[in-house]
Amino acid sequence: MCGIVGYVGPRESQDILLAGLARLEYRGYDSAGIAVIDADGELHAAKKAGKLARLREQLDLAPIPAGTTGIGHTRWATHGGPTDENAHPHLADDDRLAVIHNGIIENFAELRAELTAQGYTFRSQTDTEVAAVLLGREYRAHDGDLVAAFRSVASRLQGAFTLLAMHKDLPGLVVGARRNSPLVIGLGEGENFLGSDVAAFVEHTRRALAIGQDQIVAITPDAVTVTDFDGNEVEASPFEVMWDASAAEKGGWSSFMAKEVAEEPEAVANTILGRVKDGQVVIPELDGMDELFAGVQRIIIVACGTASYAGQVGKYAIEQWARIPVDVELAHEFRYRDPIVGPETLVVSISQSGETMDTLMAVKEAARLGAKTLSICNTQGATIPRESDAIVYTHAGPEVAVASTKAFVAQITALYLLALHVGRIRGTVSPAEAARSIHELEALPEKIRWILENEQEHIEQLAHWMADTRSVLFLGRHVGFPIALEGALKLKELSYIHAEGFAAGELKHGPIALIEPGQPVFVMVPSPRGAATLHAKVVSNIEEIRARGARVIAIAEEGDVAVLPFADEVLRIPLAGPIFEPILAVVPLHIFAMGLANAKGLDVDQPRNLAKSVTVE
Ligand code: F6R
Repeated sequence: MCGIVGYVGPRESQDILLAGLARLEYRGYDSAGIAVIDADGELHAAKKAGKLARLREQLDLAPIPAGTTGIGHTRWATHGGPTDENAHPHLADDDRLAVIHNGIIENFAELRAELTAQGYTFRSQTDTEVAAVLLGREYRAHDGDLVAAFRSVASRLQGAFTLLAMHKDLPGLVVGARRNSPLVIGLGEGENFLGSDVAAFVEHTRRALAIGQDQIVAITPDAVTVTDFDGNEVEASPFEVMWDASAAEKGGWSSFMAKEVAEEPEAVANTILGRVKDGQVVIPELDGMDELFAGVQRIIIVACGTASYAGQVGKYAIEQWARIPVDVELAHEFRYRDPIVGPETLVVSISQSGETMDTLMAVKEAARLGAKTLSICNTQGATIPRESDAIVYTHAGPEVAVASTKAFVAQITALYLLALHVGRIRGTVSPAEAARSIHELEALPEKIRWILENEQEHIEQLAHWMADTRSVLFLGRHVGFPIALEGALKLKELSYIHAEGFAAGELKHGPIALIEPGQPVFVMVPSPRGAATLHAKVVSNIEEIRARGARVIAIAEEGDVAVLPFADEVLRIPLAGPIFEPILAVVPLHIFAMGLANAKGLDVDQPRNLAKSVTVE
């Protein structure tokens, strides 16, 4: 939520800032703005409500002078609507200081009252401007020492924030501070960068530094200094970005989402890569942690949205192979219910961005209560993995479209790997079963490819026919249930159609009342070979809804003829063991949601009201 970029160096910063913002726009697109310090030491700012394109239009009409020090921001509105005035940067100290912000300053009202009483005035409704004005006051009080001013401001702010600032009297310097919001440093030659994530600067450098909580960073063209809020110098952790700029570009695709769905096979394959050794799953990042898993009596998976559905699939895999009881909880519910956890509990968080505030807070709470924490994450240098005892990265590559697709299949893959890894350590999965499962796992990318090649056109056509549909239901059992939830969520967020996912067995306990003639219902049909009992139950559920006029779209294994008489449409997926089916069954649902949004002429990459990285609670 909100994207931040900063630059100091010899180059004209405006293009670098705008390109960085374009890569960060998935984080919020309510408004955008930049500020630069020009060669004469003057500070100039431009900002505009709406997407980045609006700011670019404004800059074309009314250019601002070139400068080599700059900051830029793309906003997801929290305090104050998406207006020009509320867009960042916010200026203070007689327009000599520019500030941008990601997060929420919870005590902003109290600070605003304090500053107003001292005669300061405000031009916006934002919490950010309060921080800017406070920073301006402290800058004066600390005789033009911007880092010292930041330290003083940081001690007054409550909530979550990443703040970047630059002052016209200090060209060639950008200072940032973070608490519970993301900030990474990009290291160049004679130039340095700051960004909400590495996408902000990856086209210029892949060398990066991750900074910890409650730290302040100052960048000049030749130096990077990181200190804690008490002023002690601290070391930032270096890392190399594993993907290049082209991976975060649309290429020839019509949308990032089209590209990312097409990349689902690679997302699975790359997540498995390097984690199978001598017919066993061995996750190198978990080396030396056998003890951690041996003693665990219970696992709680915490995540939000799509990531939580991956967690629900993971529960089946972990319980099957590692024989540890697993609960899956929405992170925001876990955090505020006084959970009973202790050293015998492993809390596994799942997050594509690694920055979701609800999930981060759940991880911190778990650690505070003495639990061990393990993070499954797709983003290097992100906060959640840094706050966790152990990390298993998914290797889906950068996911830019706001709604998650390829990261989801990578998350499920990582959970299968984790389950097999822990099962091996605990001796709960036999080598033969492990080998069979790995064989199945390694076959999944090719099977996803088969769906994309053989079913995509059919599904897109179906989506086109259904463009005027007002409501769609999704049913599944066992591992098919979370996939029903994911299918419904994806349709809601991309095409703004009412959609609900249900456990098929729950139908007759209420939701069947929703079925009326013509109601479209997607049904995840379990394998008749691998899960014969479940298959029979789901076929009965289909009969029940068909009898009431539902239009059934079955997602069924190739060769499942039993389902044919009952389904209006059948979307085929290749054969796979029951536990592996979700990773295949979700692909048609991703294609369908995208196809329907396209048919309605909607922006599939940036759906209304959403942001990719939800860094506020
Ligand atoms: C849905 C979607 C969201 C995210 C959720 C968690 O398409 O993308 O539901 O899955 O906001 O985000 P991460 O995984 O970044 O923690």
